[in-house]
Amino acid sequence: MTGGAVPIVTGGVSRAGALEAVARRLSSSGVEEARFDARTLLLAAAGIGPTELVLNPDAPLGEDAARLLSAYAARRAGREPVSRILATRGFWTLDLQVAPLVLDPRADTETLVELSLSLLSGRRHEPLRLLDLGSGSGAIICALLSELPQAYGVAVDLSPAACALTQANLAQCGHAHRASVVRGRWADAIGSRFDLVVSNPPYIKSEDIGGLDPEVRLHDPALALDGGADGLECYREIIGSLGRIVVPGGLGLVEAGAGQAQSIRVLFAGAGLGVVATARDAGGHERAVAARLDA
Ligand SMILES: C[S@@+](CC[C@H](N)C(=O)[O-])C[C@H]1O[C@@H](n2cnc3c(N)ncnc32)[C@H](O)[C@@H]1O
Repeated sequence: MTGGAVPIVTGGVSRAGALEAVARRLSSSGVEEARFDARTLLLAAAGIGPTELVLNPDAPLGEDAARLLSAYAARRAGREPVSRILATRGFWTLDLQVAPLVLDPRADTETLVELSLSLLSGRRHEPLRLLDLGSGSGAIICALLSELPQAYGVAVDLSPAACALTQANLAQCGHAHRASVVRGRWADAIGSRFDLVVSNPPYIKSEDIGGLDPEVRLHDPALALDGGADGLECYREIIGSLGRIVVPGGLGLVEAGAGQAQSIRVLFAGAGLGVVATARDAGGHERAVAARLDA
């Protein structure tokens, strides 16, 4: 909240009253899940859990919580995502840090983690070598390392902010000793082969970026979104490198934008990898495509 702005709630109002006031304000600003977001922000500002809110809705919010909640609500009304306001995001089974200039990881990306783990199901306790190209917050590599206790991970990103956040999240999850972070362009700096190479590259067509929701357009970095004229430029580069960086019989997996899975199959075939599985996200889109390099 900027100095002099009228606070959205004051300390004398009840928790339930504050919830209503914030939900109304967010709804009038075009926030889709206004009540859900208002509740998340209220719980964080008041430092209470959901049970306490249900049991004591009439308790006064208090001055400190009201100031904090007003500031949070003003930011959310300006279409900043809740995860960025609270600087944290639940992904897989993990609580990850979120930071400016780095993509806020999405639930859809858990489809890629799920498919990777199902294809490695008989090998969970092997010392697998994993490579995450375009690691962003480190969401994918952190999730994989949390499920594959003997694996070693390498994370690559071109963005210094993303490399720093990947490193911070690896440390927060207790995996820093089993991972390295490399700043570089896709696989350019990679000189060895991996059992699994995974990537969620930028895949939005350049011309579509201006039409994205403000939460994405104003807060996720263009470097994490822009997939070039047809949205497939990064896939071409990443998939084109797999023959050099995947072990024979190893796997390459990518997240697919809606409607891109067929084009990705063609790119895998052109690089000498056969698609072995795809997986759909909760919305029914083919979201993850997995291919194997001939043994
Ligand atoms: C869609 S985001 C994915 C981030 C994270 N893996 C996730 O799933 O939440 C794509 C990532 O690729 C990175 N990136 C873009 N171009 C790159 C390049 N040429 N080389 C390496 N990383 C790149 C961006 O900085 C961004 O972190």
